[in-house]
Amino acid sequence: MSPLCPMPPSWVAELTALMGLFSVQGAASRPQAPCPGRCCCCGGCGAGPVLTVLVWEWPSRQVPDFSRDVCCEQYGIAGCRLSTDRRLLSQADVVVFLHTTLPRGRDELPRDRPQGQGWVWASLESPTNTRALAGWNQTFNWVMTYRRDSDIFMPYGKLVPNRSATVSIPTKTNLVSWVISNYHRTQKRAEVYKNLSRYLHVNIYGKAAKKPLCKDCLLPTTSKSKFYLAFENSIHQDYITEKLWRNSLLAGTVPVVLGPPRSNYEQFIPADSFIHVDDFGSLADLASFLKTMNSSRYRQFFAWQKRYSVKLYADWTERICTICATYPRLPQGHLYPDLQSWFNT
Ligand SMILES: *[C@@H]1O[C@H](CO)[C@@H](O)[C@H](O)[C@H]1NC(C)=O
Ligand SMILES: *[C@@H]1O[C@H](CO)[C@@H](O)[C@H](O)[C@H]1NC(C)=O
Ligand SMILES: *[C@@H]1O[C@H](CO)[C@@H](O)[C@H](O)[C@H]1NC(C)=O
Ligand SMILES: *[C@@H]1O[C@H](CO)[C@@H](O)[C@H](O)[C@H]1NC(C)=O
Repeated sequence: MSPLCPMPPSWVAELTALMGLFSVQGAASRPQAPCPGRCCCCGGCGAGPVLTVLVWEWPSRQVPDFSRDVCCEQYGIAGCRLSTDRRLLSQADVVVFLHTTLPRGRDELPRDRPQGQGWVWASLESPTNTRALAGWNQTFNWVMTYRRDSDIFMPYGKLVPNRSATVSIPTKTNLVSWVISNYHRTQKRAEVYKNLSRYLHVNIYGKAAKKPLCKDCLLPTTSKSKFYLAFENSIHQDYITEKLWRNSLLAGTVPVVLGPPRSNYEQFIPADSFIHVDDFGSLADLASFLKTMNSSRYRQFFAWQKRYSVKLYADWTERICTICATYPRLPQGHLYPDLQSWFNT
């Protein structure tokens, strides 16, 4: 993260925008935020034009204070002005629609948009848990999802190179744990859990187990297990969630994954950092592999910690700020003709 910078008086940008003192067509003529001395991360000093990103509806009732340059202050992303003020619609470069707060139909959104304004459809859920995309043909220019082929790729987490990283394995007091809030017998993960638990004891937490964990209790709990069942709620290409990144890797436990094929996981994390349910012919074999593993073999799963740290993307402000970083590379003039088909294939 970049060091914090002194803030430009944000009301200047706000006021000039509201008064329409600057042409709104084309980013090149956008106002440059005032440059506070030597700081080059804030306000895009020397780093190009300021983009206005309007979030149509914030996903929670607590809207962050966007009068500050949050993208710069918190994430080191310059030239990115976020707002939820719909009065800025006519001058926004980008308008973001989160799937969870999408209105019922296209009719509830503005009919016209200024030339060059891009609309983003943003969602983190998998197709299995995403309803009502049929009515959104020809609406969005860009998509922001967990899929790597999204215009704006937004994973749940990633490994970032870290030269000062060191291997650190938390003390273990049990073999396997699982945190589950929505248990449905018909899900593959429920069936695998049920069968696996015939061969070994799984420490199970979460709403479904009537042992909910508080927000700050989750990592200290899963970290005490040697292995964690990072079982996705549905199986889709690239759909790899915080169950892997936070509950397992960040916690310092070895993930046993159920999700897309091993080859897909290997596009995100080293092949020797996880165990895939499909690696075994049977769940009995998986159970015996886990139960009989010696400590030198176990330590090998943590080799990644010599070179990487886990970075989580867990905050909508950060996710939306990344749109500005990606913006120069986004394709122009394209609308998704059939969003539902795109997402379901
Ligand atoms: C969206 O586009 C697809 C492909 O052209 C078409 O089959 C579908 O009927 C369209 N949906 C709506 C609601 O217009
Ligand atoms: C790099 O690793 C060190 C040692 O584990 C840690 O303190 C630091 O926060 C890591 N840096 C990042 C960017 O994650
Ligand atoms: C679970 O066990 C049942 C009964 O032995 C078996 O039919 C089923 O295929 C198993 N499922 C998995 C995912 O291993
Ligand atoms: C630990 O397990 C690995 C893999 O099963 C085996 O190759 C190795 O010899 C074992 N090491 C010891 C010290 O038992």
